[in-house]
Amino acid sequence: MAAQKTILKALAGEVQDTPPIWMMRQAGRYLPEYRATRAEAGDFLSLCYNSDLATEVTLQPIRRYGFDAAILFADILLVPQALGADLWFVTGEGPRLSTITQQSEFDALKGADDIHDTLNPVYQTVRNLASSLPSETTLIGFAGAPWTVATYMIAGRGTPDQGPAHALKDENRPLFEAVMNRLTDATIVYLSAQIEAGAEVVKIFDSWAGSLKGQDFEDFAVAPTKRIIAALKAKHPSIPIIAFPREGGDGYIGFHEKTGADCVAIDNSVSPEWAAEHVQVAGCVQGNLASSHMVTGGDALVRETKAVVEAFRKGPHIFNLGHGITPDADPENVQLMIDTVREA
Ligand code: CP3
Repeated sequence: MAAQKTILKALAGEVQDTPPIWMMRQAGRYLPEYRATRAEAGDFLSLCYNSDLATEVTLQPIRRYGFDAAILFADILLVPQALGADLWFVTGEGPRLSTITQQSEFDALKGADDIHDTLNPVYQTVRNLASSLPSETTLIGFAGAPWTVATYMIAGRGTPDQGPAHALKDENRPLFEAVMNRLTDATIVYLSAQIEAGAEVVKIFDSWAGSLKGQDFEDFAVAPTKRIIAALKAKHPSIPIIAFPREGGDGYIGFHEKTGADCVAIDNSVSPEWAAEHVQVAGCVQGNLASSHMVTGGDALVRETKAVVEAFRKGPHIFNLGHGITPDADPENVQLMIDTVREA
């Protein structure tokens, strides 16, 4: 069947006059309706596991803006929780997890096939969305990449330099590799279940790929992504996959070919002109307006939005921000960005 939805056309390599658009963290705290639903749920994790309310917040930005894609509302840290790690969020600080620094902590984890008891509500959210989204809207599922999830799982929290994960990699390679392999297996199982529930595209978020250099980038950003994509394509050959090796720098070059990703998402540490020349030559790209424009708006937003559209005009492109929209963003700036993309 030929792809009809604009996002699927871009992922199939089609060049379109107007790029399709969605936005990372489009369901989030900058929207008053999100804050209201989150208050009803109680806290962030309760919202993730409440299928009805997670469906509602996923749909809110679709209703308000008519984005071309909806992204499942969940979090990359649900996978470690499903593997048996403790997980909680500290207001104003971010996630906390039980740590993994020794073999005994790894041995206590569940197997990759045992994650469904925890994650079933997420699959139910996907099913709800598959049956309630407008026919032109693409449903994107997602998971964190093994390295990024491992950095939280090993340290027990977000870290500025991913130091504890690098330390485990260098001091106890067998344990580090065991964590990476378990996460890679669990990610395959989790994304397969999302696809079977109705996700039309999946995205792999490697937010901390940029802290892996040289051979480490090949071994722990490229190789796990390649293994996940190969396993998913073997089972679900028609499902396109977006990879996001954030701040990958030169590592962005060749990432499509090395991993088999249909699309590579670009953050705003590189210019759209550079990405068009070095990355879009190999296939669809997604990105990469700086999310700060959603706070500041005005002429600069319009100018930079047009510059991103222009830079990527000759190849397949999905318009997005370079990273998630922040809670202090103005919802009117989001509308201005969309209007600019659709008129550019
Ligand atoms: O893009 C989307 O809207 C899809 C849903 C999604 C969320 N988080 C929802 C969320 C996705 C894809 C993520 C990914 C995620 N989560 C990453 C990788 C991508 C990135 O942004 O770098 C990471 C590192 C996490 C872990 C995580 N979850 C952090 C560091 C935080 C921030 C904690 C805080 O207090 O600000 C979260 C919370 C989170 N995940 C929110 C949302 C909408 C905010 C929750 C809230 O307080 O309502």
